[in-house]
Amino acid sequence: MRKLYVVMVGLPARGKSTLARRIKECLLEEGIRAAIFNNGDLRRSMLGMESTEAEFYNPENSFGLLARENIARRNMELAKDYLAGAGEVAIMDATNASRARRRQIEEYCAEFPILFIECANEDPLLLDACIRRKTQLPEYAAYSREEALKSFLSRIRYYESIYSPVGEEQHWMRVDAVTNRVIAERPCDHSPYYPAIRDSVVSTWVRCLYLVRHGQTAYNLEGRIGGDPSLTPKGLSQARALATHLQGKALPYIFTSTRVRSHQFAAPLLAERPDATALAMPEFDEIFAGECEGMRYEDIHRDKPEVAKARAADKYAYVYPGGESYADLRERVRRGLARALFLAGDEPLLIVGHQAINRTVLSLFLHQRNEDVPYIYIPQNQYYHLSVTPRKKIFELIKFA
Ligand code: F6P
Repeated sequence: MRKLYVVMVGLPARGKSTLARRIKECLLEEGIRAAIFNNGDLRRSMLGMESTEAEFYNPENSFGLLARENIARRNMELAKDYLAGAGEVAIMDATNASRARRRQIEEYCAEFPILFIECANEDPLLLDACIRRKTQLPEYAAYSREEALKSFLSRIRYYESIYSPVGEEQHWMRVDAVTNRVIAERPCDHSPYYPAIRDSVVSTWVRCLYLVRHGQTAYNLEGRIGGDPSLTPKGLSQARALATHLQGKALPYIFTSTRVRSHQFAAPLLAERPDATALAMPEFDEIFAGECEGMRYEDIHRDKPEVAKARAADKYAYVYPGGESYADLRERVRRGLARALFLAGDEPLLIVGHQAINRTVLSLFLHQRNEDVPYIYIPQNQYYHLSVTPRKKIFELIKFA
């Protein structure tokens, strides 16, 4: 049988809708007719503001319960009609948090196989940022930020009280939505769509990433490494030039390292975007040079010739005494990037990184040979613009100052 229901499962703010959109895109690109049926959209159009209140989600509120049942049923009907016609894959996007709700789907949509895809994300930093972001949605326009946060958190608690993970269903996949990994699965091997779906789940998706290195610092001028220096007047003017260059561009997510130069560089961008989510991530801190922090390259050559020699021989694997190597950076940058990409979902993001960090970020996309990574070109007046989906890869180096 060539038709399939895909049913998303997961608590709010776990990345279900982003994943549903990606699955649909992958299927459409393969010429497979797919559509999304989203309970939330239906709820907002049928009930509006009334369904924003947290109490609407209280499992003991019979009005809310009935209204949500009706919406779920309506959405199942729409999905069913779609597959009864020309549609090939119907993606049902909702929390589908309880086993009871999933059983209803199994009973009502019994004519075709169902693949349940559960999105998990227990990273507290990401959850917090995602939840805060949700409170900026039009749905919460009539609420203050604090009221919206309180209300959304209690909505989540109501869902948690009825939540049960997938496992009893015939076909399911549990996905770590941050790292794009399949944690466990009971595959739907006989479905011709399974490979494309799995591919969209495990692929890295970056709609629009601006990867920038901070501008000139006093240390850069002197050839010193590491430390926490500030930008020079030239560095500050490079920061303003970037803001002018990106003026008018949507940039809802801006990530920096925890270093002063990275913050200073992002400041003009953020000044124009008061609603942007700005996060300082230690994963993006520059390579730590241990005993060599703050030294000039020429000092290292003179005072620690063994360091200079060993590093020149294998710059990728070389670990600074008491510090890090490029090889060490790989895991922490990968973690930071996964978190940043999860948060941004399909929206544009910008990272203000450092020389070794940006080399590592690029290497994660370019699959460079390790020995080439420490030599990737990372100027301070140009940025890399990346757009990477399973079927499209764009890398551009763009001058802004
Ligand atoms: O010189 C600036 C800098 O960001 C240093 O802080 C860092 O140690 C260095 O670049 C990394 O580049 P390389 O690995 O080429 O020394």
